Amino acid sequence: MIKEFTTPIENISETAAKEELKFLSFEMARADDAYYKHDNPYLSDSEYDTYKKRNNDLEAKFPHLIRENSPNKRVGASVKDGFSKISHNVPMLSLSNIFEETEIAEFIDSIKRFLGNHNNIDIFAEPKIDGLGFSARYEDGIFVSGATRGDGKTGEDITLNLKTIYDLPLKLNTNKPPKIVEIRGEVYMDKNDFLELNKKQAELGKKIFANPRNAAAGSLRQLDSKITKERKLSLFAYTWGEISDDSLWSSQQEFMNIAKSWGFPICEHIKHCQTPQEIAKYYNELIEKRPNLSYDIDGAVYKVNDLNLQERLGFLTKTPRWATAHKFEAEKAETIVNNIRIQVGRTGALTPVADLEPINVGGVIVSHATLHNEDEIKRKDIRIGDRVIVQRAGDVIPQIVTVIKEKRKDENQEFIFPHNCPECGAYAIREEDEAVRRCTGGLTCPAQAIERLKHFVSRNAFDIEGFGSRYIEDFYKEGLIKNPADIFELQKKNEQAQIPQDDFFSKDESNFEPLEKREGWGKKSVDNLFNAINSKKQNMELNRFIYSLGIRQVGTATALLIAKNYGAFATWQKEMQIANDKNSEEYQKLISIDSIGEVVAKDIIEFFNETHNQEIIAKLLAHVNVANYIDDTDYSSPITGKTIVFTGTLEKMTRSEAKANALKLGAKVAGSVSTKTDFVIIGANAGSKAKQAKELNITILTETEYLEMIS
Ligand code: IVH
Repeated sequence: MIKEFTTPIENISETAAKEELKFLSFEMARADDAYYKHDNPYLSDSEYDTYKKRNNDLEAKFPHLIRENSPNKRVGASVKDGFSKISHNVPMLSLSNIFEETEIAEFIDSIKRFLGNHNNIDIFAEPKIDGLGFSARYEDGIFVSGATRGDGKTGEDITLNLKTIYDLPLKLNTNKPPKIVEIRGEVYMDKNDFLELNKKQAELGKKIFANPRNAAAGSLRQLDSKITKERKLSLFAYTWGEISDDSLWSSQQEFMNIAKSWGFPICEHIKHCQTPQEIAKYYNELIEKRPNLSYDIDGAVYKVNDLNLQERLGFLTKTPRWATAHKFEAEKAETIVNNIRIQVGRTGALTPVADLEPINVGGVIVSHATLHNEDEIKRKDIRIGDRVIVQRAGDVIPQIVTVIKEKRKDENQEFIFPHNCPECGAYAIREEDEAVRRCTGGLTCPAQAIERLKHFVSRNAFDIEGFGSRYIEDFYKEGLIKNPADIFELQKKNEQAQIPQDDFFSKDESNFEPLEKREGWGKKSVDNLFNAINSKKQNMELNRFIYSLGIRQVGTATALLIAKNYGAFATWQKEMQIANDKNSEEYQKLISIDSIGEVVAKDIIEFFNETHNQEIIAKLLAHVNVANYIDDTDYSSPITGKTIVFTGTLEKMTRSEAKANALKLGAKVAGSVSTKTDFVIIGANAGSKAKQAKELNITILTETEYLEMIS
């Protein structure tokens, strides 16, 4: 459910901006995880971009509020469990985005300014391929390993999977290959191959992919490379990583030519541009070409062609300054709302969903759209039977953009949002200031209980393999599993169920059919399930355990922060009881944690106040050994946490470069000298700031000394 930002940037107060930035950093981390790690996005691209734009606007207005966990400081998400890891010696970065044509000139101007009003900038424009980034390493011209982007620093080892892709040269077509070179680009699935695959999947009753990108990701990130081989994947090369000889090419254009001669497919719709007008023309032509391309693209990428200039421009925390991505608008189509139904979530939230007359939107069949909440339906005035415009942006959750009012029939009545839970009938209330209506059935509402169980076994929580939604629903309905602790008693119950009926005294009263005897189950699958459950009893990571409890507003990122701050579950549990008293130090400690404000704190404390929750935790802890949290973050740069002031004319770098570099190493860069300053770095003709530093006894370093220190 996307949050709406009602206060215009111009009017927003610092306090409100701080809250919004906090919300955005955590929400976007969660969305990144869903997108990159689980190939299962829950925010649409345009929703994600709305958040991103708001975050950037807020950060631009209040630079001092930029958070340590700002979305602009992260790249993608960390690696999927099960793959071995490959670390990228040269990080695989991401691209900044622009959305409007007017931003093209801003991008060019900012480059010129950074370079000290450089004249002509040669821009190399390419399509932005909508697939999955890869890096392929060649040693002496032979393909040796391949990786996904992962979090930019560490990716998944997909060597065997990449090898199955016909487009990838296993040997570079050259007599003089460099000792080491990593070629990077995008793996994608051709639109026709995607349709074929889905047809085959449907025939076999297997998972249907929402779009070619998801199909490519799902196919490339297979632990079994035989499956990858069966799926037809393609690739384009567009950049490089580590290289032992950096004199092979001096521009993006030269790189593309050489990569092509080595045997890599290169996207042909590329162009040199000199002015913002030429770039805009390229962009608009690309929009025209898009439907006829055999692969999905989601925008254009503009790169400074000259590598010397690229080097001078350098990088922000996770994106190069010398490139940007110009994203396309979402794809749209017209269809009919056949029904509006209400889903009940884990926390009782009633979420309306529109069932649509299936429609092809940019190559993907869309049959439902999220309506977010009651107000959203009212605001857009969406009614059953209406003709509507739906939009999809390379993702799984389409949205209704607008209703075509002229086509509305008289019988299309206003939708009345239910005031009772459709699953359990309990009253559903909507708190003041809340957009969501929630079922009050709590523990008695089956929909909530089932969703809580699904959450408990899900990948970021206990990650119990093979425990699919269908089993949970069946087991719940049979009364076999009512709450998470019951999962760990299932094996015992199942063993008891095998005891013959007439053994009256030891028979379990629930009287159910042993799993082994059920249709679709065999001894092996039952063993697998119990092995998967039992393997989670030891050394459960603290942050996963916290997340698995399903406390409202405690997502993976917040759970991790709680784990870091409390170290042990028992400590946290004890302190949460004391935190009932808002004057206690324990309460203050809780709300001083980055993502936890008073609202989240209230949910956490209320969770622990509920006797039933305490009982389930006690039962869980009887089965599960939760490990204490060990912090392995590397805070190793000599200037991490230090405050630095640059003054005078620097010779080896521009002021912007120096600042960017220091920030990257974890330092704070200040504009003026104070007692809080740790180092003052002086260039030529340094004036009053150097004097002040002397007076305050602050360490003064020349540019060379400074560079030596951080090298
Ligand atoms: S250049 C340092 N060129 O878009 C930047 N990326 O959001 C290196 N992408 O991670 C990337 N088409 O996976 C580049 N022509 C293109 C691209 C492209 C698609 C992807 C890539 C990257 C993401 C950035």
